Amino acid sequence: MVEAGSTAGRYEIGELLGTGAMAEVYKAHDPQIGRTGAIKILKDSLIDETEYLNRFLKEASAAGTLNHPNIVTVYDVGKINELPYILMELVGSETLADVLDRKEKLPYSTIIDIAMQISSALDCAHNSNIVHRDIKPENILYDSATNTIKIADFGIAKQEDSDLAERTQVGTIMGTPRYMSPEQARGETIDGRSDLFSLGVILYELLTGRKAFDGQSMATLTLQILQQDPPPLRDCAPNVPRGLQSIINGLLNKKVAKRFQNGRQVYDALAKEQRTLLDQQDEQNYLPMQVRWTAIMGAVVGLVMIISVVMVFNVQRKLLTDQAISAGVSLATFIASESAIHLLGEDWIGLETLTDEAFKRKSFAALTIVDLGSVVRSSTDKSLVGKPWATLSNDDLLVTRQDVSIYETGEGESSLYILDSPIHFNETRIGSIKLSVSQSPLANVMSVTRRVLLVLGFSVTLVVLFAAYFLNRLVARNVLLVTRTIRDYAGGNHRARISRSWKNEFGALANAFNTMAEQLQIESHAEKPAQVSSLSEVEETPEGEPSMATDATLSGPGADDMALEQAVGELDNDTSSGGDVLDQGSLNGDSLDEEPLEDATVIQIRPES
Ligand SMILES: Nc1ncnc2c1ncn2[C@@H]1O[C@H](COP(=O)(O)OP(=O)(O)O)[C@@H](O)[C@H]1O
Ligand SMILES: [Mg+2]
Repeated sequence: MVEAGSTAGRYEIGELLGTGAMAEVYKAHDPQIGRTGAIKILKDSLIDETEYLNRFLKEASAAGTLNHPNIVTVYDVGKINELPYILMELVGSETLADVLDRKEKLPYSTIIDIAMQISSALDCAHNSNIVHRDIKPENILYDSATNTIKIADFGIAKQEDSDLAERTQVGTIMGTPRYMSPEQARGETIDGRSDLFSLGVILYELLTGRKAFDGQSMATLTLQILQQDPPPLRDCAPNVPRGLQSIINGLLNKKVAKRFQNGRQVYDALAKEQRTLLDQQDEQNYLPMQVRWTAIMGAVVGLVMIISVVMVFNVQRKLLTDQAISAGVSLATFIASESAIHLLGEDWIGLETLTDEAFKRKSFAALTIVDLGSVVRSSTDKSLVGKPWATLSNDDLLVTRQDVSIYETGEGESSLYILDSPIHFNETRIGSIKLSVSQSPLANVMSVTRRVLLVLGFSVTLVVLFAAYFLNRLVARNVLLVTRTIRDYAGGNHRARISRSWKNEFGALANAFNTMAEQLQIESHAEKPAQVSSLSEVEETPEGEPSMATDATLSGPGADDMALEQAVGELDNDTSSGGDVLDQGSLNGDSLDEEPLEDATVIQIRPES
């Protein structure tokens, strides 16, 4: 136990960050180089347990060879008062176990993002022949602000094929049973695919909020892991995207050969799922541009069309009305001059003949001749003759032209223009004629015009709508293609390029992106020649084979590397002379107890051979 506020070696110890089965982790500050990290110190009580010491120092050796953004970086390793410690980078203050404890539901895209980071880190470790063997929520450090994870605690990691493994019998299995793979539970030789099973168990829990294997005793839990599939996601979390469900099922396959075979495969499948999910979210967040822009275009064109139709219609009506009135005025003045002699001579028969003759030409609806005393002297309506003329209301007066007053009466079909023209003799007014002209021919022409204009306006709007839709869809598709490629690149596929070529602005955009991607790739190669850790870089090997981190070096100052080597050397001596590994019960044997399990229980199993 170390006191917060005390110093250990050259480190100032800060708050306790977490405790595992084997060690305590504190915040630590190195005043010499002004660096703050997390110091993991073996529990006092375990100092004499060779296996723990072994395990502890091996962690530094395993994690130290890995260089990956999602694996905790080891800075330094050594001993303070005989207690071994590992100084590593300080990561957030949470683990995925805290997230699960809070029963917090993370969005699917966040969970996929976390899963992608874990599978990328595991791929890196497995490519360096390191199997973590204890992938569980407590060992995944999580920074919720950036949604970044880092895998910690390579304490029981096994370096396959290494001399160290041979000499120290690290075939011994230690791990928390709830996240263990079936082959690990059986004590068989395991490889990276076992870690992938554990990842599946974690993801199942993140997605459903329940444990994939919830047995409360070692026996039931082991049986579940070996024989039972967890309740299907399609039943207990039906909203989880189908593709994601199938990835989890692929990870949780009990048969190693049928599982995902490496972290890369898992990462690729997750990345594809993420793209689909993000595309879907985008579509829900906004109206696609072919719909929005088409609607806007339609509204604008429709409005312009309505205004145009109304304007054209009104101008047309005005012109036609003028035309009709002018024709009426000419006719009225002509009849007025013809009737003057008859009216003056009180030749009522002559007046009547004139009226009837004019009416025969059918160019007007009615004609009435009135004398100065407003008495009807002749009319196409014989019943009016001899009666006083009912004066027209001034309200109906439309316009006056060349002494002729034009009135408008009636509605719709029966509406009329009544032209009131004075009859003069030697410039003296002697009476007037009332000529009624029907408006219905005019109304017919106007209604045809209106129909033609409306059909025209509607068809133009429709054609514009179609054209706008297809053009916008074309643009939207191109934008989507570019977006997907950029997203692909951002998701780690640094080989993603826009391969379509356009001879327009999109072509320029695609060229700009491709050039930028190429440039970034060249720069990243130039900057970190020894880093082979990230998934994207593994992809770059020409043979298409994942590259091994053969030359990977420990990060941190050279002195730290030496300290690590020395410590591991000491460990070798300790364990080769120290003898037996711990054996607290074998999953293969009969000693499965029915005691309730705590998730933090660490069990150790001896391998079959
Ligand atoms: N680098 C780190 N930064 C912050 N917290 C850490 C770090 N490493 C470990 N922890 C915290 O300490 C706990 C125990 O660390 P771990 O390495 O898993 O120890 P153990 O080997 O005993 O299981 C973790 O669950 C986590 O809460
Ligand atoms: Mg741990």
